[in-house]
Parts: sequence; structure tokens; C-alpha cells
Amino acid sequence: MISFNNFYQQIASNRLSHWLLDLPKQLDDWNKNHLHGEFAQWTKALSNLPTPETTTVDLTTQVQAGLLEEMSDGERKKLEHLLMKLKPWRKGPYNIHGLHVDTEWRSDFKWDRLKSHISDLSNRYVLDIGCGSGYHLWRMRGEGAKFVVGVDPTQLFLMQFQAVQHFIQDDAVNLLPLGVEQLPELKAFDTVFAMGVLYHRRSPIDFLYQLKSQLSKGGELVLETLIVDGDEHTVLVPGERYAKMRNVWFLPSGKAMCAWLERCGFKNVRWVNTDQTAFEEQRKTKWIDTESLQDFLDPNDPNKTIEGYPAPKRAIFIANV
Ligand SMILES: C[S@@+](CC[C@H](N)C(=O)[O-])C[C@H]1O[C@@H](n2cnc3c(N)ncnc32)[C@H](O)[C@@H]1O
Repeated sequence: MISFNNFYQQIASNRLSHWLLDLPKQLDDWNKNHLHGEFAQWTKALSNLPTPETTTVDLTTQVQAGLLEEMSDGERKKLEHLLMKLKPWRKGPYNIHGLHVDTEWRSDFKWDRLKSHISDLSNRYVLDIGCGSGYHLWRMRGEGAKFVVGVDPTQLFLMQFQAVQHFIQDDAVNLLPLGVEQLPELKAFDTVFAMGVLYHRRSPIDFLYQLKSQLSKGGELVLETLIVDGDEHTVLVPGERYAKMRNVWFLPSGKAMCAWLERCGFKNVRWVNTDQTAFEEQRKTKWIDTESLQDFLDPNDPNKTIEGYPAPKRAIFIANV
């Protein structure tokens, strides 16, 4: 059972108070009915985490909590052992009292690609839909966001977030175990991020409307997704698998993505970055037991997936409501 009372108390006195109409019931239901088979083990690992004094937190150049000298080598070994129970660690990296959690993804690369293009996050209410373990939530807070909420239905990622939160202890950064489809129309966030999620949605246009309905007037959407080359009419709907993933539905061209955003009523649509995923950004480390990018591409042609589709190319779009 995870308590979200602290989150409820915070939003009761901020501009998200109308969320209290739906949220406690949804999360009670989640606590009662939807817990993963390994949930008890994960909770046990969390409850055994060491509790050193954490004097230093850096969220501006990395996600780092605590100094090496604030934790003994023995405690750090214990920390590593406990965090390993929360594998696979996909999004990161994290540095906790000198322990380098070298995640599969260098999520900082994505942050570096988008940072100069987005509006200043100072004092903003920010929502990150499909936030994974919450790496970018911390970076948003590092850029001055006032209140940061991530939603992601994958329970392991909530556990990983809570492990990092255990050391950082910042009430203004929260992750809720919800899917985008469970959000009411909050119309309350200054910036909404949706990165790496659109291609997993079976109905991408509905998804864009869901994102729109979270933004306050004048707010900004930051959307990152896989694209293919082509004109505004080009969209790839792969077969059963794309780069070994079963849940990939729509890969538009960059121009088609802009057209979709405009069709959904977004204004000032900008396509600001394109990047083909490199092995330095997604690779196997000791923090995952599964395959990684190298196994998803054609061994003879890194520009193709193993199924023969164009290799993953990611683009960032910014738009306003
Ligand atoms: C490719 S990851 C992207 C993570 C992170 N946003 C990033 O850019 O690194 C996709 C994420 O979407 C989450 N997801 C899956 N279904 C979702 C849903 N219905 N609503 C919101 N997020 C979802 C997954 O759990 C996963 O963490």
C-alpha cells in the first residue's frame, strides 16, 4: 500500500485542487486491485534503503543526491544490492552518494537536446506523461519548476522513483501510477511533456487531445516521438514488431506530426530537433538484464531495425494552446 496523502494535501491548496474529485478514488483502487506480483519485494527493498544525511543535491547538470563521503563503502554496497532488486533501470542515470546507476538510456542526452528550445520552467506547473522512473522530472525541477507531476502506469518505475526520492526528499516532485487515459481534463499545467509515448498509443490523435486538455491557456506542449522520413502524408504503421517492440503503432514523418498537432488545434507548432538514436544513448549496462539497441538493429546495417524498418529516429516538437 502506497500512501499518496502528502500529494493530496499539497494539491488541496494549489491550482490542482479540482483533481481531488477523481484522484483519491483512482489511487485507492490501484492500491487495492492492481499491484504487481513483485510489489511486496520491491517495497521491502525500498524500506531497507540506508538513510544517510544528504547535504547536496544537484538537479541542474545531472541527477545527483548526496556525496560519496556521506556514505560508507559498506552502506553503498548495500544500496547497490537493494537498487539491483529494482532492475531493469531503463531511464537515468542517477548518482546517489557516489553510486552511479548507469541506466540503459542516457536520458540526459534527450534533456540536452530539448533544453534550449523550451520555455523557461521557472515557477511553472509541469506534467510529464509517461515519465518512466522520473529522470526528467528531476531535471524539470532543476530548471526551477514550481510543482512537477509525472504519470506512468508501470509500477516498477514508481518504485525506482521512490528510491531516488528517498534520497532527494523534494515534495514538489511527484510520480503517480496512472495512464494518460485516466487523467481528467485538468487544464492546469503550464508545460506538458509527452516523450516517447505517442508511438505506443493506438489512437495518437486522441492522445494529442488528451495532452491538450491538461494545459492551461497559453501553455506549452513538448512532444518527443519516433519519426520516419517523408512528407506530410507519410506515416509508418509497422507490422507486429518494430525494433522488437510489440506496442509500436504510428510513426509519422516530422511534417505529418506537425500537421497532426495543427489539426488538433495546437498553435505555433515547431519541429526543433531530430536525432537518430546512437549506441551511446541506449545500451546494455549491468542495470538491465534485457537486450538493448544493438540487438534491435540489423547487424549488417545500423540504419535498419532487425525487421528492416528505418532505425529509430526521434524528433522533438513544441506547440502552444
Ligand atoms: C519509451 S518510455 C519514455 C519514458 C520517458 N518519457 C523518456 O522520454 O525517456 C514510454 C513510457 O510510457 C509509459 N506508458 C505506457 N503506457 C502509458 C499510458 N497509457 N499513459 C502514460 N504512460 C504510459 C511506459 O510505462 C514508459 O515508461
